[in-house]
Amino acid sequence: MIEIRGIRKTYPDGTEALRGVSHRFSEHVTCILGRNGAGKTTLIRILSTQLLPTSGAAVVNGYDVVSQPGRVRGIISSIPQEAKPSGIATPMEHCMMYLSARGMGLSEAERESRRALKALDLTEVMDKPADELSGGTKRKLFVAMALASRAEIIFLDEPTTGLDPISRLEVWSAIKKLKSQVILTTHYMEEAKVLSDEVVLVEGGRIITHGTVAQLLAPFKGKVRIEGDGGRYRLGGLSFSYVDKAKAKRFVGKNVTIKPVDLEDIFVTRGIKVED
Ligand SMILES: Nc1ncnc2c1ncn2[C@@H]1O[C@H](COP(=O)(O)OP(=O)(O)OP(=O)(O)O)[C@@H](O)[C@H]1O
Ligand SMILES: [Mg+2]
Repeated sequence: MIEIRGIRKTYPDGTEALRGVSHRFSEHVTCILGRNGAGKTTLIRILSTQLLPTSGAAVVNGYDVVSQPGRVRGIISSIPQEAKPSGIATPMEHCMMYLSARGMGLSEAERESRRALKALDLTEVMDKPADELSGGTKRKLFVAMALASRAEIIFLDEPTTGLDPISRLEVWSAIKKLKSQVILTTHYMEEAKVLSDEVVLVEGGRIITHGTVAQLLAPFKGKVRIEGDGGRYRLGGLSFSYVDKAKAKRFVGKNVTIKPVDLEDIFVTRGIKVED
């Protein structure tokens, strides 16, 4: 369980990346969703003790990230955004080194490495130098290392960015089987829907809303999205509105697109109550 209270982060150049976030992360899998620059990576880096908050407190399974970073590191595993293995060490060697460094015994490390590599379909390449792997495969290897760690809490910063659809499914399936608590960031609505017990929506350095996918979509129940001119909401040059399914018929044949409501609509409306 992770509890954060009033976390703020102002980078030395004055950028206010986090403007006071408080939350209790207690679900098995939490997806932090947010647009580019929302503050997701900053939050993950603070929780995994790679970055100090400017103010506020964060407690990870009972340990304080500022005063007990060593304790926190002992119970977490974290994959940074865009981190990729490199060099001549193979996937198997990468896993073994990582698990040994975390204090796992050799035979257990070998068993867990094989299991994680297999779960992510990396068995065939497990003896190839990391430099010779494709970009997506390198990324999967880092995910495998985190999963093999059996850490109490695993942080994955955009674990599936750049992965093909099948690889993405493999990562999802491996995450679902984990006993560890998982906190991951993503831009993919589908990922949040498939994986998360809770979605935390971050925008402009604040948590703007959180809940299960069903809870977040509740205000849109029975509605469809009408994209076209004159809508109430505007984003990226599009304007749209939300109307009851029954009333959508009157838009047929007009110059608009009618779409089912999806998790992305929460972003668009930023949790604003939807009316017709
Ligand atoms: N080292 C830094 N120095 C100054 N500003 C930074 C630094 N790192 C991040 N920022 C800024 O802090 C804000 C939040 O960045 P962060 O990387 O946390 O966003 P993010 O939600 O992870 O975005 P993305 O989805 O693009 O990965 C952005 O405005 C970013 O430019
Ligand atoms: Mg990021």
